[in-house]
Amino acid sequence: MTDTKDISLNPGTVHPTLSTYSSLSKSTTTHHLLHVGDNTHLPHKPLVQIGLGLQGAVFEHITHPTEAIKKEHTLNAHLATNLTNEVGIHRKVWKAFRKYKRLLIVREDKKKGKVKDKKEDKKEDAMEDKVEEEDEDEEEEEEEDEDMDDWDAYEQYDDDDDAKKDNARAVKVPEIIDYCGDADDDIWRKRLRFFPEGYQTKGAVVVMERILPLTKEGRKALVERFVDVGAKEEVLSREENKHCLVRTYLGRTKGKAGPKTDEQGRVSLRNLPLYLEGLREMGVDVVALAEKMGRAFAVMHWGAGVDGDDVEFVLGTEVKAGADKDKDECGFQERVVGLWLLDFGQCKQVSFGEGGEEAVKEVYQEFRGAMVMGDNRDFIPSCVDKESKEVWVGFRRGYTAAGKAVLKERRLQGYDVEEFITSYEEYAVDFP
Ligand SMILES: Nc1ncnc2c1ncn2[C@@H]1O[C@H](COP(=O)(O)OP(=O)(O)O)[C@@H](O)[C@H]1O
Ligand SMILES: [Mg+2]
Repeated sequence: MTDTKDISLNPGTVHPTLSTYSSLSKSTTTHHLLHVGDNTHLPHKPLVQIGLGLQGAVFEHITHPTEAIKKEHTLNAHLATNLTNEVGIHRKVWKAFRKYKRLLIVREDKKKGKVKDKKEDKKEDAMEDKVEEEDEDEEEEEEEDEDMDDWDAYEQYDDDDDAKKDNARAVKVPEIIDYCGDADDDIWRKRLRFFPEGYQTKGAVVVMERILPLTKEGRKALVERFVDVGAKEEVLSREENKHCLVRTYLGRTKGKAGPKTDEQGRVSLRNLPLYLEGLREMGVDVVALAEKMGRAFAVMHWGAGVDGDDVEFVLGTEVKAGADKDKDECGFQERVVGLWLLDFGQCKQVSFGEGGEEAVKEVYQEFRGAMVMGDNRDFIPSCVDKESKEVWVGFRRGYTAAGKAVLKERRLQGYDVEEFITSYEEYAVDFP
């Protein structure tokens, strides 16, 4: 096995592992976890909880390893920020990330290739659109696709192996696979027994692409650095600690952070927070990461019209693209570290209007306001801390590059990304 000192959590890094997740299950499984109308597809083991938040709990199931189910807490259903609302926003952000995926890549070599065949692009889009629910934006999106020349020229690259590597380095949003409200009693009667005790109440659920956890080697490297000597083995072997994702708190400049303890006082590797210093220790190029997060925020803001309140960024893994087998003869599987944006439960949508002065001011305020709220202050690099200036500069560079390209492509009048980010810098001074 690799020496854990060599393991880096830099997006794009390949980790070999003995535990495997099927890379094929998404395309070959016609019956995902919510299709329980037909008894032959009912899973026999209960779902296992892999995540918990204020709005809901997230589960995995052994038969569908690349899917995650988020189930809403009963009391959340009555709030404006319920799961139904979240799913609408999540879909919007996912669509914007698909459309502007070239803007979400920070190219390390800055090499630009040929223009990708636009017909191919459209074919892919048309196929994906078929299986997606139509929404009002769809027509608008098609129209916009006709006028992509400027944008294509902005960020061109080959759809070859390089592009695959680039894709692994792009920020991603989990794809929504299905959604079901709590109205259908018959379906719910069949479904409830698959949820663990304590979750056997009717509620809205969403099935989405699962962000795979860090590999055992990745977790070992974290434990090696951040857990006391005596506790290492126990922490690593505990089943629930397999679901390890790392939060990238670039805005935290003091200390390294590391694992928190759960309610029972045990060290937890779930949603493990790493501050700037901790990320650096894990081999992460924090400036490149900041640029990616900047790009993600810009596409969410200007591409999806979503304010980004209380979103999360995590490092996780995915099965290496292009692997036609799930694992090689020795039983190894290669997984790639990646950065994901998730949890749109508290987000709001903004309307860009006609771009009149008042509308522009309001949109700027919505976006700025959300950027200094809650965890966003921890995720977004500080623009006042002098020692981490280059990290903010990275975020700013990513945000403006992607934001400008989106505005140009959408031909949104009256908005100016440079003006917005400058106003954010002035505003954020009051929220250190
Ligand atoms: N698609 C996913 N794949 C893997 N883990 C997930 C996924 N979505 C959420 N999680 C995990 O579950 C936790 C709770 O989900 P989240 O959407 O943040 O719920 P809440 O809105 O209640 O905070 C997340 O912090 C993350 O650790
Ligand atoms: Mg959350």
